[in-house]
Amino acid sequence: MKKIAVLTSGGDAPGMNAAIRAAVRAGLYNHLEVYGIIRGYKGLIDGDIRRLESKDVSNIIQRGGTILKSARSDEFRTKQGRDKAYENIIKLGIEGIVAIGGNGTFTGAEIFMKEFGIPTIGVPGTIDNDLYGTDYTIGFDTAVNTALDAIDKIRDTADSHDRVFFVEVMGRDSGYIAIQTGIGGGAEMVMVPENPDSIEGVIDTLSAGRDRKKSSSLIVVAEGEDLGDAHYISVKAKEMLPHMDIRMTTLGHVQRGGAPTALDRILGSRLGLAAVEGLLEGRKDVMAGIINDQVVYTSFHDSINLKKPLNKDLIKMVNILSI
Ligand code: F6P
Repeated sequence: MKKIAVLTSGGDAPGMNAAIRAAVRAGLYNHLEVYGIIRGYKGLIDGDIRRLESKDVSNIIQRGGTILKSARSDEFRTKQGRDKAYENIIKLGIEGIVAIGGNGTFTGAEIFMKEFGIPTIGVPGTIDNDLYGTDYTIGFDTAVNTALDAIDKIRDTADSHDRVFFVEVMGRDSGYIAIQTGIGGGAEMVMVPENPDSIEGVIDTLSAGRDRKKSSSLIVVAEGEDLGDAHYISVKAKEMLPHMDIRMTTLGHVQRGGAPTALDRILGSRLGLAAVEGLLEGRKDVMAGIINDQVVYTSFHDSINLKKPLNKDLIKMVNILSI
């Protein structure tokens, strides 16, 4: 293998730059030519591909976002789009790809691999931490810390006004950010898609809190919560508890930005390196992850299709610790 390319695709995540830096430098260390594909699969189709040298990735480990930019490409979902992408790969003689992203990124990579046989290794980069085959995904820890910082601030104002706050955090289909933020922020309740919830349960929790003389309460709601979004749940709660002063806040994309935490920089560095080493060892069609501090390669098929279970004991813990 002489030439490899690196791309970031899907939602950006803090720590992706550390992974790019590691993949580029690991490639150069192993005497490979390294290319950066701009805007993920879109750039692969458009031919927006640039040679990267060591200096191109200096001074980025501490920066959020992705210097390679990211996109969600509809064209890559079509065979025509993927044919164009393959032409560009052949033109440059690229023999291996490091694809940094989440579920959608690996789905695209798996299809492309099957059609054209270009060895690809995935690096889990998503704030949602919803990929099977790794304890943590790049960006998750930073997103949780950003959400916690916001929650600490909301607590100040909630306490001053004796208010109930519903705070919605990201996580399209997963409650990982919500559960960690809820525990770290001392929430009264956490609502996640992995656990069935009801409005009655919310009312009981808030009423029990008031009975125990709690003046303010905070409920963290995952974006993917089945019952509805935090706005809907707060409106329902207001209808049933008109004597309580209830507010809601959606944290949104603020959770996707900012300087990566130490954990995300180190995770990104380890996985960027592991991806290149995996390619050189002849691996393909796998995601590099870290389980129990060891690098593990999991097939794209499993990382996409198997569900990483959320530890339900943590939900119980939130209830116990908020009495
Ligand atoms: O997958 C990461 C994530 O931030 C999800 O938590 C969220 O549902 C989604 O991306 C938002 O995506 P977009 O970039 O399209 O707003």
